[in-house]
Amino acid sequence: PKITYIEHDGTEHTVEVKKGLSVMEGAIRNNVPGIDADCGGACACATCHVYVDPDFAAETGRPSAMEESMLDFAENVEPNSRLSCQIRVTDDLDGLIVRLPQSQH
Ligand code: FES
Repeated sequence: PKITYIEHDGTEHTVEVKKGLSVMEGAIRNNVPGIDADCGGACACATCHVYVDPDFAAETGRPSAMEESMLDFAENVEPNSRLSCQIRVTDDLDGLIVRLPQSQH
């Protein structure tokens, strides 16, 4: 599946991410800046915060209770905020667009 990451300054990165990886891992492996992922994907740092494009809200689902509580530590949280290490890439997510917050820039 292809995922488009849009940096805070508008720079777009469309990359192929292998199924089963997380959206966070897809960014790291493709050198997309703006996702720090300090905890390495353990849902314990909130530095992999992204905004999911509203068109993909249904496909990406809702954050777990653990993710919700971790999101409290992120800045500028919006209703479409997610921790990208908690979104698993599937074929349904082909074309997914996520925007990166300024605070991780
Ligand atoms: Fe730390 Fe996602 S990488 S919460």
